[in-house]
Amino acid sequence: MNPRYTLSFLHLFKIPGMLPIMKDWQAFIRTLFLFAGYESGLLQALSQAPCTKEALAQKLGAKRQELMEALLDVGLACKELELKDQKYSLKGKRSRAVVNPKGDMVAAMIQANVGYYCDAYRNFTNRLFGGELGDDLEEIGDVVARFSKGIEPIVRDFVKAIVTGKQSLRILDVGCGTAFFLQSAYSVNPTATGVGLDIDPAVARQARENIAAWGLSERFAVVQGDIRHPPQEAAGPFDLINMSSMLYYFSPEERAELLSDMHARLSPSGMLSVVMNFDSQGKDLAAANLNVVNCSLKGLYSLPSREEIGETLRACGFRQIKEHNFLPASTFQGLTAQV
Ligand SMILES: C[S@@+](CC[C@H](N)C(=O)[O-])C[C@H]1O[C@@H](n2cnc3c(N)ncnc32)[C@H](O)[C@@H]1O
Repeated sequence: MNPRYTLSFLHLFKIPGMLPIMKDWQAFIRTLFLFAGYESGLLQALSQAPCTKEALAQKLGAKRQELMEALLDVGLACKELELKDQKYSLKGKRSRAVVNPKGDMVAAMIQANVGYYCDAYRNFTNRLFGGELGDDLEEIGDVVARFSKGIEPIVRDFVKAIVTGKQSLRILDVGCGTAFFLQSAYSVNPTATGVGLDIDPAVARQARENIAAWGLSERFAVVQGDIRHPPQEAAGPFDLINMSSMLYYFSPEERAELLSDMHARLSPSGMLSVVMNFDSQGKDLAAANLNVVNCSLKGLYSLPSREEIGETLRACGFRQIKEHNFLPASTFQGLTAQV
């Protein structure tokens, strides 16, 4: 090979920013590979046994072999796959992680990044200048719920801190998602009973199944419904109403109305808990990124500041508002407030 070619190529790196952008590009392509490999079932198939490309095409029921081969080639080039004796297998840490039984949250993260996060950026310019906002909140519910599992350990600690030792614990979990808040409350305080409410029928069904699988159907009911038109089961009084990653589904005006209504549904010694990403203020990449999605989809609103929610809570009659900081440099935080 003539070294002149290499030298000419290296000239590219004199373009300001080329080196870091090339590095980002490689990571980006690898993420795209993981996304396509996971969604098509290719990574799962290879995790079972090394496969020739013909056997793999058959396993997947692929109708376009050349497309599958193109993806396999990307997998080799980004070192996520290896080829030995004509058989492909998983090599990279990331592809192994997304098919690991414990890796569902990692897979959901890839799906969220390439799915609704990328959509928000791809459509940014059009929407910035007045184009219609995205209307896919319902379709992304499943990935959001799976991705949200990443914050469960933190929320479990928070639940422990706020429910341990309470004599009476009837809970309403608004926008309950997987219902893990209710399960966590029960695990530290077996007097807990209550209701999980979610507007998304698929999410409510899944939460009900989870509650049954945890053997907690006697303790908790899961109801599908909209907290703006609360079903009978959400009448109260409750000792604890929880809203995790929920308040940004409401405009500031709706929020004030909703929080007043929650105040009225609490017992005189009741407590409201709020857990969410507050606005990043240029310091928290996860919150800032989430906020781009929030501002890009119908049915979501920009992340409020902690002060704004604190003021709304006070205006709705709550007192003893307490902040719970979970992680350094993160605006994923908790608030508790007494009636
Ligand atoms: C981001 S998820 C959070 C789920 C769960 N609380 C958690 O922290 O993992 C928000 C949930 O709120 C539900 N939701 C949104 N608007 C609602 C409403 N008006 N009434 C009831 N549930 C709602 C959504 O369907 C979704 O499952």
